[in-house]
Amino acid sequence: MQFGYFDDKKKEYVITQPDTPLPWINYLGNEAYFGIISNTAGGYSFYKDARLRRITRYRYNNVPLDVGGRYIYIRDESDFWSPSWQPTRKDLDEYECRHGLGYTIIKSKRNGIESQTKYFVPLGQNLEVWELSITNRREVEAGLSIFSAVEFCLWDAVDDSNNYQRNYSIGEVEVENDVIYHKSEYRERRNHFVYFACSQPLAGFDTQREEFLGSYRGWDNPICVQQGVSHNSKATGWQPIGSHHVKINLEAGETKNIIFLLGYQENPNAEKFNPPNSQIINKKYVLPIIQDYLKEETVNKAFVALNKYWENLLGKFMVDTPDLHTNRMVNIWNAYQMMVTFNFSRSASYFESGIGRGMGFRDSTQDLLGFSHLIPDRARERILDLAATQLPSGGAYHQYQPLTKLGNNDIGSDFNDDPLWLVLAVAAYIKESGDWKILDEKAPFDNQPGSEDSLYEHIKRSLQYTLDRLGSHSLPLIGRADWNDCLNLNCFSDTPGQSFQTTTNKEGKVAESVFIAGLFVIATKEMETIARYVGNENDRSHFYNARTKMENAIKSHGWDGKWFKRAYDNEGDPIGSSQCQEGKIFIEPQGICVMAGIGIDNGMAEDALNSVKERLAFKHGIVLLEPAYKNYYLNLGEISSYPPGYKENGSVFCHTNPWIMIAEAMIGRGDQAFDYYHRINPSAREGLSELHRCEPYVYSQMIAGKEALKPGEAKNSWLTGTASWNYVAITQYILGIRPTYEGLQISPVIPKNWKGFSATREFRGCEFTIHVERIGLGNSVSIEVNGEIIEGTIVPTPDNGAKKLDVHVFIQ
Ligand code: GLC
Ligand code: GLC
Repeated sequence: MQFGYFDDKKKEYVITQPDTPLPWINYLGNEAYFGIISNTAGGYSFYKDARLRRITRYRYNNVPLDVGGRYIYIRDESDFWSPSWQPTRKDLDEYECRHGLGYTIIKSKRNGIESQTKYFVPLGQNLEVWELSITNRREVEAGLSIFSAVEFCLWDAVDDSNNYQRNYSIGEVEVENDVIYHKSEYRERRNHFVYFACSQPLAGFDTQREEFLGSYRGWDNPICVQQGVSHNSKATGWQPIGSHHVKINLEAGETKNIIFLLGYQENPNAEKFNPPNSQIINKKYVLPIIQDYLKEETVNKAFVALNKYWENLLGKFMVDTPDLHTNRMVNIWNAYQMMVTFNFSRSASYFESGIGRGMGFRDSTQDLLGFSHLIPDRARERILDLAATQLPSGGAYHQYQPLTKLGNNDIGSDFNDDPLWLVLAVAAYIKESGDWKILDEKAPFDNQPGSEDSLYEHIKRSLQYTLDRLGSHSLPLIGRADWNDCLNLNCFSDTPGQSFQTTTNKEGKVAESVFIAGLFVIATKEMETIARYVGNENDRSHFYNARTKMENAIKSHGWDGKWFKRAYDNEGDPIGSSQCQEGKIFIEPQGICVMAGIGIDNGMAEDALNSVKERLAFKHGIVLLEPAYKNYYLNLGEISSYPPGYKENGSVFCHTNPWIMIAEAMIGRGDQAFDYYHRINPSAREGLSELHRCEPYVYSQMIAGKEALKPGEAKNSWLTGTASWNYVAITQYILGIRPTYEGLQISPVIPKNWKGFSATREFRGCEFTIHVERIGLGNSVSIEVNGEIIEGTIVPTPDNGAKKLDVHVFIQ
């Protein structure tokens, strides 16, 4: 069953009924002002940081689902309703929500009144536009009242949701010339405020929540809307809101537009007030913005510009393959999701509350792997921000706050895979951009002034961090956890409420990770190439030797006979081994070790991938481990706290699946790689929406595994490393269009029944037009560039500065 359909031409997903299995969301904003918005206009907004600069409130895990948002009410003489269905949930005669790239349009009709609201954040602005257009489809004139409603958050979303003894007294607003200003704490340490403006003259307004709703009422039934009269309330403490009331008359067939603006503004410290010694906000800087964006002309232009922006971005890499789902994901939704994960890491979604986590170190570094071609400058900036949170030891804060860019002390460090991902991110960025100068860029350690050193030194320390922490099998010590945050081998927790992630009650000198070992091999290979490029032979040979030792350690202590082991626990016993009762085989080391090239020459790689196919793959994807843990194991931690088939305990943890796709492509099995790609491709699962439940246009973190009660049910959509990794797997390994230090490599490993595909790829300022043709059933490739055969599979950018290249690839 489906709840909508893809409109590929418009790059939109069209939802055709409001009560989707879960709120299906979209993101607004791309630089500093952001919001999440559901298909019924639920969600919230923030400036840069969903925790520290929250603009509107949202109550997660609420009933009914997803209440709190960007609401409009329409009222006629006898009735009122929400054109976005929520919060009144009154039946609509027609409903449609179009989630597009950076915008959402909700259309509906009730009682002959048609409405459409377009929500978006104009490029370069710290505001969101709600452009409402109402049409009277009745035969007679309609007199309508329109109410808007948002609930302001008192900035710090954590404090806002627990410090009521103070917060019920600090809410402050101003209303001036029909604009509502939310300015709690502006009198003292804040120089920012929010405004909520409307393009029409007001019949009234409200800023105190209970005045608008009436006591003991909800957003579904505000007394002001029911009675058609605003109370012109001024919030003094309690819960400040913004609500405008506009009265309009529409002739039969007539349409009217109303623009609402919700925006964030900072004033210079010395010019906060006007008059200077008053407590009144100085509107000098904000008013011109408000006046401008209340004009339809400005709004229309801004919307066109937003569409152009996305068209340009996505236009950098377009593919045309025999598979619709591949085309749709690569050309539109996967790229879009990568931008969203780049912006938010794991901070704000329907499943991430915006208050729990900032930017994850390993998350953001992996998000960069597929992203760099979209906006190389922002990738560069992100790499340097991340490097600045690295610790002098080479270790890393597990997370940092986007607003302050400082490492988060609550969670701390010692997740021993973290620093290695930085090497991969830097390598991916250089391969894409050819910008070797980034290596000389200086970044501090732990943001301490005076500690600055080159990025080259940072990535060296990342690798050295692993070498300084080896265990008795010469494999890397795991620390609190590696990529799998829930495999906690140094936390033996039997105390309720204890954090598996931050409690470390074992010494940490025994448990080792085969996964980190594989990752180390991948990272060292990059480092060796980088050292060679910058002419540092000492470093190159040092890392070469270290890598060789690690490869040997993996082969002798990380191999279980038919697959790679996962780890050694605090007793030195293997995990992910045929000797174990449960959790005999894990997906991560099979993917990462083969990606590291281990065992490709001696059959281990093939055996490992055959074991994955036999034991881990099923119709909804590849599960993380098997058999899932049915018991709680003190020595394993959080992983065994989940019921079998969920999360890290044997779900299809989608992030890991592309590692297997890449590994399959590396050993030349294109059909198998593509088959796995297809199993978790959200668009290919659209017909299963009733089971899958999450949005069919983006990847989810997990799909319940074969041992779960509801196999195939997805959770935690949007913010997952799956976005970037799947993009890498399909574009760089299956389609085989892969940036390298020397140029663009084209080496597809596609299904046997594909006759070929074509693509256009912008690479270092040159547009590659690529035609791939299958003339035999193997994977060997010969390439013609502008009609001439070249040697090998790497196409360098033209020496003569030409801006276009024609590339023909023949697969034999
Ligand atoms: C709050 C505090 C209390 C303090 C009072 C006056 O009620 O809980 O400790 O004495 O404010 O500041
Ligand atoms: C979550 C975390 C990520 C971790 C993964 C597996 O997605 O954000 O850092 O690697 O879970 O535990």
